[in-house]
Amino acid sequence: MKVLVTGGAGFIGYHVSEALLARGDSVLGVDNLNDYYDVRLKQARVERLREKAGYAFRRADLAEREAVAEALAGHEDIEGIVHLAAQAGVRHSMIDPYAYVQSNVVGHLVVLEAARKLPRLGHLVYASTSSVYGANREMPFRETDRVDTPMSLYAATKRADELMGYAYGHLYGLKQTGLRFFTVYGPWGRPDMAYYSFAKAIAAGEPITLYDGGRLRRDFTYIDDIVAGVLGVLDRPPAEAVPPVRVLNIGNSGSEEVRTLVALLEAGLGRRAVVRDAPRPAADVEETYASVEAIGALTGFAPRTGLAEGIPRFVSWFRGWHGV
Ligand SMILES: NC(=O)c1ccc[n+]([C@@H]2O[C@H](COP(=O)([O-])OP(=O)(O)OC[C@H]3O[C@@H](n4cnc5c(N)ncnc54)[C@H](O)[C@@H]3O)[C@@H](O)[C@H]2O)c1
Repeated sequence: MKVLVTGGAGFIGYHVSEALLARGDSVLGVDNLNDYYDVRLKQARVERLREKAGYAFRRADLAEREAVAEALAGHEDIEGIVHLAAQAGVRHSMIDPYAYVQSNVVGHLVVLEAARKLPRLGHLVYASTSSVYGANREMPFRETDRVDTPMSLYAATKRADELMGYAYGHLYGLKQTGLRFFTVYGPWGRPDMAYYSFAKAIAAGEPITLYDGGRLRRDFTYIDDIVAGVLGVLDRPPAEAVPPVRVLNIGNSGSEEVRTLVALLEAGLGRRAVVRDAPRPAADVEETYASVEAIGALTGFAPRTGLAEGIPRFVSWFRGWHGV
């Protein structure tokens, strides 16, 4: 089938596109290649995908509906959408809040509008986030928990996407699954995320800032597990539900302290980190931990890669990419 992957030059979009192509699907990648982080990394991902049969790429900003209409012209045969384009990052949403509403709310609406008009579309899978659980204290986070205490504008925009999706399911019968991703990491990853920025600082002998002594806990999910989950979900549109929409957690279903991540990076890079301690910023939650029972029951999703295995794989890619 033909699948539209938005955010196709991004970290998760790159890996999802690669897996779709490997199983014989064709992929139309759309991305605005913005400079939130190193554009060369985004371009390199696209260049690698371009070498494969069945891949096409269009540069477009999802918040601009005419540009999206142009990008999709001639692709009325799209059967699936994996919508990953977004302004990501929790703390950055205090620095550039408008970018979040532009890409995550306006952009999401443009995707919903395009999706409902695609005659052969069977399923729209889109990215939400563990951040929607906000200040919730009960672990693990379950999809049935209330999610109305966002601690960042980023989380609020992603929750808005879930609600907009519900309305489009109700109004137009648009089949959708929102995936609440939990801290995804791996090769070709995102330089703005802690695991990557820590690796850069450690390799350069520069200090890293650890919040609350590295005791914040995250459910770190390896990219290959995420890709398996995304494809499994894409293949199973909601059939029975009215409206045909659902939201699923996708995480490793284990919570580890950030200082464990640092120790693994130190081991991989063969250097000790210079640590500066700081209090937890207001936008950061203390812990994330996913229940993955629902996605497991639906797709057989069973994450296999712990940090101790995944971080060395990231470090190995990191060394090659940065020539460390
Ligand atoms: N990586 C994680 O840990 C994580 C966790 C929770 C949720 N998510 C969500 O998963 C999705 C993918 O994340 P990622 O880690 O691959 O991030 P990423 O930043 O690497 O990828 C997002 C891509 O979207 C593109 N983009 C942003 N705004 C756009 C716009 N208006 N029009 C077109 N393209 C645009 C960017 O250029 C980028 O290439 C995002 O929606 C993110 O919010 C990621």
